[in-house]
Amino acid sequence: MLKDLASLIVKHTVPSRRHLTPELVLRLVTPECPLWRAKEDEIPFKDPFWAFYWPGGQATARYILDNGELVKGRRVLDIGCGCGAGTIAAVKMGASRVVANDIDPYAIAATSINAILNDVAVETNSNDLIGTKCEEFDTILIGDMFYDEEFANVLFGWLQGVRGEGKTILIGDPGRHGLTEKRRQHIELIAKYNLPPESCIENHGFTETSLWKLK
Ligand SMILES: C[S@@+](CC[C@H](N)C(=O)[O-])C[C@H]1O[C@@H](n2cnc3c(N)ncnc32)[C@H](O)[C@@H]1O
Repeated sequence: MLKDLASLIVKHTVPSRRHLTPELVLRLVTPECPLWRAKEDEIPFKDPFWAFYWPGGQATARYILDNGELVKGRRVLDIGCGCGAGTIAAVKMGASRVVANDIDPYAIAATSINAILNDVAVETNSNDLIGTKCEEFDTILIGDMFYDEEFANVLFGWLQGVRGEGKTILIGDPGRHGLTEKRRQHIELIAKYNLPPESCIENHGFTETSLWKLK
């Protein structure tokens, strides 16, 4: 099963370093790929979020690679790992355990492929962990998951609940509508980056991305 998903991913993506973390090579759908211009009914995947490196994920991985002490020796959970960059960055910077979590099996397969490309081993989990206690982790990464208001409400409420248990919660986000003014009062800006040109084209109007920490 994982092998079938992996061969489809390899067929439709190319290795790319044209993003904020060029030290990581990631298989992505880029302008060179037929899928970039494909019509919806020609795409063999439903919502292939894992095929793109979202601005929020780019900010998260960039910050981790530049500030390894944040994850060194820590137990990290990357919720909604997508292509797996946040996970790979945390493994590279010496986290004691990193789990890449996504409910999309293609994201799990893409993360596994990208981990191999970057010479790291990753642990994956495809359960929906939102709403659970996640006691075995002390750091949670949320890369670009505030794109839907209803989901943002559930996600933010859950993060505030688990934060009470002494966890560090990092949120990468380019300014999506789900990260409302009200929610921003509960997070602290820790870094801001300009997005590379290809990411700006891909993300219609976003030119910057930020990393936030739940207070
Ligand atoms: C916008 S993408 C971001 C991917 C990656 N973090 C990045 O920034 O490049 C959101 C990801 O969250 C995943 N997702 C959505 N709901 C989820 C849930 N309840 N638990 C785990 N992952 C989820 C999607 O499958 C998708 O891969």
